[in-house]
Amino acid sequence: MKIILRVCAIASVLVLGACDTGPKGSVGFSLPDGDVEQGKANYIALGCNSCHVNDQVPQLDSAEPAVISVTLGGETTHIKTYGELVTSVINPSHRVSRRQSLDVATKSGDSRMTNLNDVMTVTQLIDLVAFVQSSYTLSPFSSSKYPVYWIPESAKASKE
Ligand code: HEC
Repeated sequence: MKIILRVCAIASVLVLGACDTGPKGSVGFSLPDGDVEQGKANYIALGCNSCHVNDQVPQLDSAEPAVISVTLGGETTHIKTYGELVTSVINPSHRVSRRQSLDVATKSGDSRMTNLNDVMTVTQLIDLVAFVQSSYTLSPFSSSKYPVYWIPESAKASKE
């Protein structure tokens, strides 16, 4: 019985996490429309291009060869949501903690991305997110072809 209760508790935590309905979830999250052009200017002003490659922005010239080079934008099969992008900018270690790649994270699982939370304004963040999102294009997803299933006459009749 104890084991069943434990399994239920873990399952409900996983389900809640997946649905983002907990107190720290993203339900109700919504950003006002940002200005893409201003976001691009902020991206350069804040030096995002010292670590990120984006084909709409020139790389930041630095004396040191780039150690970190993470591409932002381009083709994707899943457009990044505002929630994902805001999280990436203001809480970068949220995702890397599980990746543990030393190119992007330290041994302790912290992102190597600069924390700009005390530097940028909320308006800058909103415009940045609008710009970064606009640089992704959704690539056509080729789905597998499945045969059409036979629908029994009785089911068809009940639908009509
Ligand atoms: C010092 C280097 C550095 C700077 C500066 C930097 N980043 Fe990053 N950024 C990273 C690294 C490393 C990652 C990949 C690991 C991670 O997700 O933290 C990353 C990841 C991201 C991601 C998630 C990408 C994905 O595909 O999941 C976004 C979005 C992002 N950065 C936006 C920005 C923006 C906007 C700026 C400027 C305000 C910025 N970054 C400045 C290093 C940097």
